[in-house]
Amino acid sequence: MREIQVRVPAKINLQLSVGPRREDGYHELATVFCAVGLYDTVTVRPAPELTLRVTGPHAAAVPTDESNLAARAACLLAAAVGRDPQVRVEIDKHIPVAGGMAGGSADAAATLVALARLWDLPTDISTLHPLAAQLGSDVAFPLLGGVAVGTGRGEMLRPVPCATPLWWVVAPSPHHLSTPAVFAALDRQRAAVGSAPVPAPHAGPALLAALAAGDVEAVARSLHNDLQPAAVELLPDLARTLTAGDRAGALATLVSGSGPTCLYLARDKPHAQEVAQQVGRPGDHVVQGPVVGTTARNCLEP
Ligand code: C5P
Repeated sequence: MREIQVRVPAKINLQLSVGPRREDGYHELATVFCAVGLYDTVTVRPAPELTLRVTGPHAAAVPTDESNLAARAACLLAAAVGRDPQVRVEIDKHIPVAGGMAGGSADAAATLVALARLWDLPTDISTLHPLAAQLGSDVAFPLLGGVAVGTGRGEMLRPVPCATPLWWVVAPSPHHLSTPAVFAALDRQRAAVGSAPVPAPHAGPALLAALAAGDVEAVARSLHNDLQPAAVELLPDLARTLTAGDRAGALATLVSGSGPTCLYLARDKPHAQEVAQQVGRPGDHVVQGPVVGTTARNCLEP
């Protein structure tokens, strides 16, 4: 029986600047996404009805009902082309769950690509992007991969050059953070300090220039996440995780997206391995980014 397998990368945000809260409840963003080499794999095959199975180290934390974003992606694509979602979707889960690395969004993006292949539909980004954007703010980026500026609520993407590999230690947390809760904590923090209007966010020229020049030290100086203080307020332990990276000699440390995964930037692969060894937490991963997204070379069709 025909099956399609798609490998999909996690994302991190090199910059995450949060603008005003919009009338629809979302915040205007200027973010710089980077796809990193930590992957889930989604496999789809025909089945009598939609079923979802999750395996892998983070399987226990993933819902397997219709609330799963991959199941919603299957229903959305099926409805868009007027068919029933008669498929079995298997997710091999390695990206931390509710960790600020868009793992659920990645699975949804991979499901769109895998099912489009299975059903002989177009798989190019311009066809899949509107469906991805409907599923969530972070679903479109894994289709593209690489490094991209995201605006709007994060779904409007513009690829930008990155002239060097960036090596990271990814430090997952045993805790989960809800993205809406972290945005709400930021709103509370902003309201507490005064009523000045929040300015429209912009991708930082210094970060984009550092990426284009392949200057890792300058990238380290330009990393920024507006959601970090909110994530640390909700999980004060994160301050310790960040300090551990600084003490181990990382060039910079950062909360990933809405957290609670933390990131340590290193000069190169040996330096990342050294930082990971110094920190000495067995669950940490050394990864490289940018990597390509799902519509490029991550589709495997046996
Ligand atoms: O788009 P997605 O479903 O991933 O967003 C989850 C939640 O994160 C939203 O309901 C909203 O609370 C928050 N969010 C936001 N502004 C954004 C993206 C997400 O407030 N740009």
